[in-house]
Amino acid sequence: MTRSSGGRGEPRQELATLVRSLGDYLQDQAKVGLEWVSWERADAMGPRQETLAEVRADLGECKRCRLHTTRRHIVYGEGSPSARVVIVGEGPGEDEDVQGRPFVGAAGRLLDAIIAAAGWGRQELYICNVIKCRPPRNRDPQEDETDACGAFVKRQIRAIRPRAILAVGNVAARFLLAADTPISGLRGRVHDFEGIPVVPTYHPAYLLRNPVQKRRVWQDIEMLLQVVGGSSGG
Ligand code: URA
Repeated sequence: MTRSSGGRGEPRQELATLVRSLGDYLQDQAKVGLEWVSWERADAMGPRQETLAEVRADLGECKRCRLHTTRRHIVYGEGSPSARVVIVGEGPGEDEDVQGRPFVGAAGRLLDAIIAAAGWGRQELYICNVIKCRPPRNRDPQEDETDACGAFVKRQIRAIRPRAILAVGNVAARFLLAADTPISGLRGRVHDFEGIPVVPTYHPAYLLRNPVQKRRVWQDIEMLLQVVGGSSGG
C-alpha cells in the first residue's frame, strides 16, 4: 500500500507533535488545579450513573409524542432513589393525570394493598410507568408513543439499580422483556432486564375486574420477596 505525503508530515513526526501538545495541555490543566486519576482507578470507577433528577430534567416539558396535547400532567414516577424494588406500570390514568403521581386511582389503591401485604411502605419503593402521559380515554399506548417515551423508564431503572423489578400488566412486562408473549405466559417466572431480575404479574386494574387472579399475583409477590430477600428499602 502506498501512502500519499499530501502535504502532511511523517507519521512519527505527527505523533511526536501530538504527544507534545497533549503534554502542554495536561500541564496547563494542572496549573488551574485539575487533578488526575490513574487509568486503573478511572476504570474501576466506571462511567458515572445519571441520577433520577437528571433523567427528569432531560424529559422536561416533553413534546416527543402526541400525548402531550391531551395530558394535564406528566407522571414521571416517585419513591426512593435507593429502592430495592421498582414497580413499573403501563401509563397514567385519569386520577394520575390530574395529580401528576403514579397509581393514585382505584388500581393504585389495590396496588397499595398488595405493597402493604408484602410488608413494604410505598415510600420505600419506586413506582413509575412505561409512558409518562395519559392516553385519551385510557387506551393502550401506541407503538410510536412507547418508542418515544420508553427510554426514560429504562434510564430511571438504571439510575436506581434496584434488586428487582415488578412489571405489572402486559404493556410493562412486554416492554421491559422485549417480548410479544401475553402477561399470562410471562408471569410465574423470574426474567431479566440488564441483569436485574424482573417479576411480571397481572395489572391491578385487571385484578379489579378478575379478583380470582389475586391468588396468582400473591404467588408472584412471594417470588419477588424471595428475589429481594425480604424488605425492599435501601
Ligand atoms: N395504571 C398504570 O399502569 N399506571 C398508573 O400510574 C395508574 C394506572
